[in-house]
Amino acid sequence: MLVFKNIKEMQAYSRNHRSAGRTIGFVPTMGALHEGHLSLVRQSFRDNDITLVSIFVNPTQFGPDEDFHAYPRNSEGDIQLLSELSVHAVLLPVNEEMYPEGFSLSVQVGETGNRLCGRSRPGHFDGVATVVAKLFNIICPDRAYVGQKDLQQTVVIKKLVREMNFDIDIIVCPVVREVNGLAMSSRNSYLSKEERRAATVLNRALKHGREMILIKEVSDTALIIKELEEIINSEDSARVDYVEIVDAEKLLPLDTIRSPVAICIAVYIGNTRLIDNIILQ
Ligand code: PAJ
Repeated sequence: MLVFKNIKEMQAYSRNHRSAGRTIGFVPTMGALHEGHLSLVRQSFRDNDITLVSIFVNPTQFGPDEDFHAYPRNSEGDIQLLSELSVHAVLLPVNEEMYPEGFSLSVQVGETGNRLCGRSRPGHFDGVATVVAKLFNIICPDRAYVGQKDLQQTVVIKKLVREMNFDIDIIVCPVVREVNGLAMSSRNSYLSKEERRAATVLNRALKHGREMILIKEVSDTALIIKELEEIINSEDSARVDYVEIVDAEKLLPLDTIRSPVAICIAVYIGNTRLIDNIILQ
């Protein structure tokens, strides 16, 4: 497996494969890899001749009071995992090359980026869209793989591709969970043993929402949101950031249920902010 730190070299490598007629699948990540990330890599392997992964903790998507410096970093372990999967190449760019002095452009996502997570993370999705646009220009893949775990991010990236005419198919892969239902996340490493247990409340709340919608056929979203908030608040260390029921494509809030619907939640467990969602057809 090749490891590129230099952007131009990565670009040339990718271009060579493309001119040889090979299809390229790309998985952008911020590292601290877990099974959720690896599921995207495996899907890319099934669909493409070449699979490329990037590892870059992107400063522009972190707010000033967020965890950019504390974010888990384990590039040696990540490289080991990716080489075991026979990934063709990894891009590990340095900050100074991704954002050289004087860098001032950015992608403005607008309304879609201001809802849900955007409310407590202003500018976050502009940072995501900017770095993803840069990575797409470096790699020029045929397909890029993203996780439904970050549902709003998938909507933003699809919008980026559509509106900026990237010739790339965005493939959304299902949420990978621990056996106890906790969605895998690099940020789970911040949780104590007790917080890990408490964090299963996210999945319990989503399951309750699913039952209310599919089995009890409750249609009033305000009622469903209220019950989900009660379940989450019953955990001492949990604090609701948001519980929202939205249409699964545009992520606009719904008063009554219609398909496909997504239940999206963000919850602080202690100081750690976790997100999860389910889509119901
Ligand atoms: P990161 O959080 O490292 O996630 C990289 C990709 O893995 C994202 O598409 C994310 O949705 C997916 N992923 C994470 N946990 C998952 C899980 N439990 N199941 C399925 N997929 C999962 O998301 C980012 O990095 C960044 O914002 C990035 C897109 C790389 C831009 O900087």
